[in-house]
Amino acid sequence: MAERRRCRGLLIVFEGLDGAGKTTQLQRLAARLAQAGYDVVCLKEPSSGPWGQKIRQLAAQGRRAAQELEWFLADRRDNVEHHIAPALAQGKIVLLDRYYFSTMAYQGALGYDPAVIQKRNEAFAPPPDLVLLLEVPAEVGLERLQRPRDAFEELDYLRRVEEIFARLHFPTLRRIPGTLPPEEVHARVWAQVQALLARQGQCVRTKGK
Ligand code: TYD
Repeated sequence: MAERRRCRGLLIVFEGLDGAGKTTQLQRLAARLAQAGYDVVCLKEPSSGPWGQKIRQLAAQGRRAAQELEWFLADRRDNVEHHIAPALAQGKIVLLDRYYFSTMAYQGALGYDPAVIQKRNEAFAPPPDLVLLLEVPAEVGLERLQRPRDAFEELDYLRRVEEIFARLHFPTLRRIPGTLPPEEVHARVWAQVQALLARQGQCVRTKGK
């Protein structure tokens, strides 16, 4: 007999290239869920914790592949332990801007095996209930960035990242074209989230409960 799923909140992850629209869409979804009375927590990786800050310094100063892989993992362990797992245990909806699929794609594009990265992450990181992958070509993502590029944002490199994202395949993954108008992207995001809530929203906390 299949083991019954432990009662917890929901973990919804936004993934995609820089400039795909993740942050905008996450905020719109958060506002809509809050308006509908759900208890929502918004998080991002790299996080604002000590490892996340070290990673941002690395982006500004020049990358060191082996070190950054370990730092993204350390940052995620910290984020899971202190923020993600406690919020899920309290029945909240966690919206997460990047998760280990970014490590598979971005550090995979540096030559690390995405399958090995996935395994190392799944040893400690709770599996997401829904992964919304906003897809844009690397050129489009770069054009949209309103800031000077950092070491993570070179075109050839981002094309390799895009390829790894394109090959991802697992049951909770949904692909949405990030080139659609933001309204339309939001409508598709919302449809997926409503379907998720109908399927497995039994343990999700609403405000005041
Ligand atoms: P980003 O989401 O752009 O954060 P911020 O806007 O706060 O700088 O993330 C910074 C970069 O980190 C981005 O180019 C993707 C990269 N990244 C990885 O290389 N591996 C990872 O595991 C994660 C989470 C991000």
